[in-house]
Amino acid sequence: MREKILFNDGWQFYYGEAGPIPKTVNKSGCLGGLTSVLPGERGEAVKLGPAGKFFLSLLSAGRENDGDSPLGALFGTDTKASTALWQPVHLPHDWKTELEYTPETDVFMAGAKENGTAYYRKVFPLGREDEGKHIAVEFNGVCRSASVWFNGCFLGDHYSGYTSFNFDLTDLANYGDEGDNVLLVRVDTTTGDEGWWYEGAGIYRDVYLVKADILHVDTWGTYIHLDKLEGHAALMIAETTLVNRGYEPRDARLDTVFFDDQGNKAGSTGTSFTLGPLDSLTLVQRIILPEPRLWSPETPVLYRALSTITEDTVTVDEYSTSFGIRTLAYTTEGLVLNGKLTPLKGTCVHQDFAGLGTALPGDIQEYKIRKLLEMGSNAYRSAHHPADPALLDVCDRLGMLVMDENRLLESSELRLGDLRDLIKRDRNHPSIALWSLCNEEMIGGSPPAARMLRHLAQELRRLDKTRPVVSAELLPAGGEMNPEYFKIFDVLGLNYPESSLMGDNFSKLKAAYPGGCYLNSETASYFSTRGAYSDDWERCQNNNFGSRFSMITPGKNVKDPIGAGGTARPEQALGFYAAHPYTGGVFIWTGFDYRGEPSPFPWPAISSQFGIMDTCGFPKDYYYYYKAHWTAEPLIHVMPHWTWPGREGETLQLRVFTNCEEAEILVNGGSAGRKSCGPDWTEWKLPYTPGVLEAVAYRNGKETAREIHKTAGAPAALVLAPEGWVEPRLWAGGTAVVSASVLDGAGNPVPTADNSVAFEVTGDGRLLGLGNGDPADHSADAYPVRRLFGGKAVAIIQAGIGKDRLVLKAASPGLAGAALEIAVR
Ligand code: GAL
Repeated sequence: MREKILFNDGWQFYYGEAGPIPKTVNKSGCLGGLTSVLPGERGEAVKLGPAGKFFLSLLSAGRENDGDSPLGALFGTDTKASTALWQPVHLPHDWKTELEYTPETDVFMAGAKENGTAYYRKVFPLGREDEGKHIAVEFNGVCRSASVWFNGCFLGDHYSGYTSFNFDLTDLANYGDEGDNVLLVRVDTTTGDEGWWYEGAGIYRDVYLVKADILHVDTWGTYIHLDKLEGHAALMIAETTLVNRGYEPRDARLDTVFFDDQGNKAGSTGTSFTLGPLDSLTLVQRIILPEPRLWSPETPVLYRALSTITEDTVTVDEYSTSFGIRTLAYTTEGLVLNGKLTPLKGTCVHQDFAGLGTALPGDIQEYKIRKLLEMGSNAYRSAHHPADPALLDVCDRLGMLVMDENRLLESSELRLGDLRDLIKRDRNHPSIALWSLCNEEMIGGSPPAARMLRHLAQELRRLDKTRPVVSAELLPAGGEMNPEYFKIFDVLGLNYPESSLMGDNFSKLKAAYPGGCYLNSETASYFSTRGAYSDDWERCQNNNFGSRFSMITPGKNVKDPIGAGGTARPEQALGFYAAHPYTGGVFIWTGFDYRGEPSPFPWPAISSQFGIMDTCGFPKDYYYYYKAHWTAEPLIHVMPHWTWPGREGETLQLRVFTNCEEAEILVNGGSAGRKSCGPDWTEWKLPYTPGVLEAVAYRNGKETAREIHKTAGAPAALVLAPEGWVEPRLWAGGTAVVSASVLDGAGNPVPTADNSVAFEVTGDGRLLGLGNGDPADHSADAYPVRRLFGGKAVAIIQAGIGKDRLVLKAASPGLAGAALEIAVR
């Protein structure tokens, strides 16, 4: 029976170039040296058949001479030194988190880490019982160019850091006493960036080993989709690609059974088939599913399809596919989901996170998505690349709509292959609502771009017709758009139509193409630094009230008198949508700060500041602006904090975000006035008096929400708090985010604390990395000491597999320490 084994443990890692290493050999099959076994591993260093042994007796071949080269040292036949060069690593792994930041300008946009080459090696046995099965390895994502060898054979190259790929190992594997199997992956980031942001380096997504019968469902071999809803039933289509990897014809039967989220059978069908040797076949089955429960962000109901291949009453393969049922259309009014107009409250997000680079375990993907959902967001744009499948699983489960994006506008065979793989891999995810073909390509709008896009769109629709196809374009001056684009795309995505940079381009476009479908595919780009209330060039900080460092004022780093703080203010982004409600919603640039693209500051800035949250997921003030627009539960937030030593009597600007009708500010119990609130914010100007600042919201004259800031004294004690969990408990192997902050002697949080904190994990777990959201902090991610920034930092911890307990401790000179005990189940 099929096994899909998570293959993340037990890898070895070497940072550096050992090559060039050959991808071809004149006598193939005896290239043991590259993937030869090292001391302690089972098998022959160089595997030879009788013919090879005869050859060797004639020629003084072998790889002993390589002992002096880096290649020989790493892959040397029987030297213990080779073993010592390899470091143990767990996947997912982003080696750039281990490198120092560098001021080199060529890597400035990419997160200020040098590019390089590294090797990953995994040794594993396969039993005799596996012989005769189909064996394959699946990589969800390797950044960037990957070359893969297995037991001396070169398997192939993969060039995109964002698409998944796999290799058939069946014949090349060693079984039982034939020896261990050695999988080798060379990863190279010197081959050119795919994007202008931090992309990480290494095997940064999950790897799986698949064992199945040689008659099996192909990788990404199912496509379960809704034909139509009729009466009280969903008429479903299941397309299943079957592969006979063997050498005899097979007569078998494919049964597809649907189960609901309670595990009850919800529909089934079966089809007999004959499949010739080394052949494949796609069967199309129709299944009626009565009383379907539709997937939506509010009701993320998942069904499961079990595809079973049976031969003479023996089950030979079972393949499980998670899917959801919903209808989708994009009209001139916007996205219509299950017949209901659904405004997109979206953010664009890059992949990285504090302390981890791009190597995010599923729990951290979930952490990020939960943070966005808490803000009231219902849509995620995987900018600007195919999403991690682990992230899509989370979005399916938690109810987040996704715009999944192709990386490059090129219709070369290579890139068409990437697009095909993306669609086949992802098309069962109900969360994916839109396919995006490109973002702001330099060639955009030209005749060759239109030709290439037409090909890509056609290829995409051949594989999935159930979702709208969108592009993300910068509006050309005058609003002139290549008319071909309106034929190619279902929806024209517009980046920053709200920005003053765009003038009245959008109204001109709309006048020229009134029947077009539009979407604000990227909006805002507003700079802000968590906890900063003035601009500071030296410290690379942007004022949360609106930075004067702007991208809309001509000239580099010119202070912008209107303080747009980027391309447009959040108020402009939501305001534009409110004024043009047929533009589908918004995708704010970005949900979180990300590494790289550190505009507007040069080095020492290393990360962007567009995020509604920082790189740790800590909200900045405008988080509450969006939350006030996107959620109904009463909320109020006042900025800034109320700890300004030495500024007593000085007039301070206070800004309140609320979704209630009125707001009142109280200082030390005295009212500074109650005001009715508009859609954006309400302000007060008050002399600073230390004590208690309260912001109170009212609906129908009744208090509905209150936020309190107390003036803090000197830091006294550290606090550790699990972020995003209900209870301090972790699954074996699970990962979590823990925040560290500081209280004064009276127990008030100190928002300005910048104490250096040492972290330690004892017991059944380990510290994966630390972060603080400071866009100019150059500490190594895994270094166990971190300065608090704006009073906070995070530790990312991972439980072991011992099902015991772990303790995270935090210590800082002069402060009472903290310890958090976590049970591991
Ligand atoms: C957009 C681009 C994004 C990011 C952003 C910064 O034009 O699509 O990737 O660079 O600008 O404002």
